[in-house]
Amino acid sequence: MDIIEIIAKKRDGRVLNKQEIDYFIDQYVKGNVKDYHASALLMAIYLKGMNHSETVALTNAMMHSGKIIDLSKIKGIKVDKHSTGGVGDKTSIALVPLVAASGAKIAMMSGRGLGHTGGTLDKLEAIPGMKVSLSEETFKHQIAKIGMAITGQTSDMVPADKKLYALRDVTATIDVIPLIASSIMSKKLASGTDAIFLDVKMGSGAFMKTFPDAEQLAKTLVRIGKAFKRDTRALITNMREPLGFAVGNILEVKEVIATLKGHGPSDFTELCLVSAAIMLIQAKLAKNISSAYALAEKQLKNGKAFQKFKEWIKAQGGDTTYLDAPEKFKTAKNVITLTAKKSGYIEEITALTIGEAAMHLGAGRLSVSDKIDYTAGIILKKKVGDHVKKGEPLCEVYTNKKDYQSILKDIGRAFKIVSWEIRKPEIAIKYIK
Ligand code: URA
Repeated sequence: MDIIEIIAKKRDGRVLNKQEIDYFIDQYVKGNVKDYHASALLMAIYLKGMNHSETVALTNAMMHSGKIIDLSKIKGIKVDKHSTGGVGDKTSIALVPLVAASGAKIAMMSGRGLGHTGGTLDKLEAIPGMKVSLSEETFKHQIAKIGMAITGQTSDMVPADKKLYALRDVTATIDVIPLIASSIMSKKLASGTDAIFLDVKMGSGAFMKTFPDAEQLAKTLVRIGKAFKRDTRALITNMREPLGFAVGNILEVKEVIATLKGHGPSDFTELCLVSAAIMLIQAKLAKNISSAYALAEKQLKNGKAFQKFKEWIKAQGGDTTYLDAPEKFKTAKNVITLTAKKSGYIEEITALTIGEAAMHLGAGRLSVSDKIDYTAGIILKKKVGDHVKKGEPLCEVYTNKKDYQSILKDIGRAFKIVSWEIRKPEIAIKYIK
């Protein structure tokens, strides 16, 4: 087989077969297919697309490019969750104990933030002592013992995705459905769970800006999961405005604590409960959404979800005294309040602008080697649909940077205030199974 023929075939818009896709991935990981070959093929895929069988074949080849975790010795249905990434998206940290407190087993492999989207592992590391790179043995042992674990992917899993993702990042080939879907699903399938729940974000702060794109991605992800006989379901959720009020690592962890104690923001609490309901159905602990939702809500109200949260953080080395007394967390040196320049209704809080501003304040990374300031971030004081009076706070900005004036201006521009009433947006937009 010849890589140049494979590139030419895709360039001409023809369908690649499984052998050609297996050859490309195998030889690329071995270093015989070079980055310049892979770049050309990625661009051909970007421009000409891939059909369902090609996308499944690519997912399969990537999944088998490294180690596959075997969770079969742990009793019960193991469920994993993935979010396509957003601003203020701390959902996994609250959702996992909520679902585990309801009796399910959660085995989650998460990532770090890059660019305007945050990462679950970084947020967890904002809790002093918390370990997020568990050995495979510890990961499995913890799931068997307390029903849940979140860890980073080990370096020997899905090496094809690590190489390809880095190349896509520098060849303008990130945002295309077959490449996004195979990248996500190869990692989820390699982590060995029986069921996969996908939170597909839609809006300015997400990969998919529009409903048709988000729906197409969600359907593609679910179809791939089904091809591998995993119970795979997706929920399209709103990422036009940040999720909840908090954006930034410590600020988000504090919001998770408040939510698990029953007084979280309504959009975030609702997203956790709806997601938990779907995962409980996947774990066969409930028959329908309403009974599953009620089961999850009960764990929130009776304090069991918060207890489970503490048990989990302790198991991974985190200092749980911070969870009981969140005021112990460090705060940034500078806390600046931005106020409304006019009265009216909040029509938009552009998630992308807020996410980028939080990153520049120090909460995220521009490149992989950047260090994170866990205290940096933004607390919204208003959400879309709220009324605001001139001079009332729109948000608080937390930073240790000295030079933050231009970032404040950007944050101010994210808020659009209009004179007419605005309906509060739904957080859960469409369930796809
Ligand atoms: N997340 C992934 O893991 N891969 C992509 O390609 C995009 C988002």
